[in-house]
Amino acid sequence: MKKVISLLAALIMVVSIFSLTGCAKKESNQLTVALSPDFAPMEFVDTSKSGQDQYIGFDVSLAKFIAEEMGKELVIKPMSFDACQAAVQSGSVDMSISGYSVTEERAANYNLSDYYYAGDNETEQVIIVLAENGGKYSSADDFSGLVVGAQTASLQMNLCNEQLPEDAEIKEFGDIGTAVEALRAGNIDALAVAKGNGDAIIANNDGIAMSGFEFDVSEEAENNVILLKKGDDELTAKVNEILAKAYENGYYGEWYDEAQELAGIDTAADVSYDEDGNVIEG
Ligand code: ARG
Repeated sequence: MKKVISLLAALIMVVSIFSLTGCAKKESNQLTVALSPDFAPMEFVDTSKSGQDQYIGFDVSLAKFIAEEMGKELVIKPMSFDACQAAVQSGSVDMSISGYSVTEERAANYNLSDYYYAGDNETEQVIIVLAENGGKYSSADDFSGLVVGAQTASLQMNLCNEQLPEDAEIKEFGDIGTAVEALRAGNIDALAVAKGNGDAIIANNDGIAMSGFEFDVSEEAENNVILLKKGDDELTAKVNEILAKAYENGYYGEWYDEAQELAGIDTAADVSYDEDGNVIEG
């Protein structure tokens, strides 16, 4: 009996040494989320802040809620949009929340969460141009011979390749901010973006406007999903539960309004009022 007890004691000691030295696998209490913070109002940077606090927008609110619901500490890993997707595939982050639309490739290569609703951000897919060319383009053929930018590994890149004429040159950008600079500098003629993101870009950059052209998009591209590693079913189920809760609590609308405001998109900007407070038409 004594022997058994001392053996047991020895075993317990070995086990506790293992866990003390970290040899035993310990569960991380962090939730790592990759995002590409070049996509206002979904994820962007508040340049007056630093560290984790600088990342703001709808998806950041969503990521915070998910971490909170899971009892984990949120760690945002900022990286380019294509790198976000690679990071999920390699498992170096838990997930990516970065304004993803559903595409065939993504459905095949990742676990996709249920939809979440990000206002009117992706109800339309558009092309923006310099203001002097605003409204000039009504059909895909109007981009014949032009250089059109789009983000690498994005829905917008797919749409350009599928719907613009063959002699339009599609130029890839890892970062949307860099693409906007190229547009302003005249290095590209046009830039394909999600509508809400286009609104944010126009609100923050004088001299850029909507081209007048809109891509044909299937309805399923209007909403966003979270990207998780293929086969990570347990975490995906947990995330879906949390998304359902966010929806029931009416958070999506709140987060979107707040994000639009932070992005400087004044939803009332299209409307002007006379002295009596009546809306001026036109
Ligand atoms: N919704 C588009 C897509 O799924 C664009 C997303 C871009 N997101 C970003 N954070 N840059 O490809």
